[in-house]
Amino acid sequence: MRAHPSQQPDSHPAMHLLPESDVIRMAHSKSSHRWLREHFDDEYVKRAQRDGYRSRAVYKLEEIQHRDRVLKKGMTVIDLGAAPGSWAQYAVQLVGKQGRVIALDILPMEPLPGVRFITGDFREQEVFDNLLNAIGNNPVDLVLSDMAPNITGMNAVDQPRAMYLTELAVELADKVLGPGGTVVVKAFHGQGFDDLVRDLRTRFKRVSVRKPKASRPRSREVYVVASH
Ligand SMILES: C[S@@+](CC[C@H](N)C(=O)[O-])C[C@H]1O[C@@H](n2cnc3c(N)ncnc32)[C@H](O)[C@@H]1O
Repeated sequence: MRAHPSQQPDSHPAMHLLPESDVIRMAHSKSSHRWLREHFDDEYVKRAQRDGYRSRAVYKLEEIQHRDRVLKKGMTVIDLGAAPGSWAQYAVQLVGKQGRVIALDILPMEPLPGVRFITGDFREQEVFDNLLNAIGNNPVDLVLSDMAPNITGMNAVDQPRAMYLTELAVELADKVLGPGGTVVVKAFHGQGFDDLVRDLRTRFKRVSVRKPKASRPRSREVYVVASH
């Protein structure tokens, strides 16, 4: 299995799926050791394993769903930064057989029934275009983005990289969302965040910033929910 790009211990969603040898290698560093301990004690990790989800990240989307009702039967949903696939697992259940889920990630993802998956770097024009082709002419009801770059620990590098992915997700939403459509996009508090929210407020009817309980308190990660 390839190492996951979000190998920042705080945000690695697929750690529990790593082979034992990888886990042992990561455990040799102090911060990884702390992360492993926190991870295996984490109530959301335990719940995800019990509920059959591929990542604890599902409980962030679940909380947003309970509050904002972004997913409904029959919807067409795009899931950016989808691997290992818990949001797609959740989305496919809620949109049902009449709905459509198209997922994309820079990493390969184990297939999921009812989910069309595209592998590629969303920053590349060709990948962006492949996704547009897969969508076709039908309007999209919901764009989800949980994309996060590989964290270096240097805010001056990480924040612009993260913001770029957020902006690309919003750009896709601008292109494909139909009337009444919604975008849920991961963003990080820091440089550019206030401008992003201000800009979305000028273009969407309703804009809310959510910090789900499953999002670790020390992380600057939040989700912006914007609806037409
Ligand atoms: C926090 S994880 C997503 C977890 C997912 N929502 C789930 O429920 O399983 C972030 C994902 O963003 C992906 N990602 C990061 N940069 C990307 C890029 N440039 N293009 C596509 N995916 C990217 C990573 O590979 C990673 O799988």
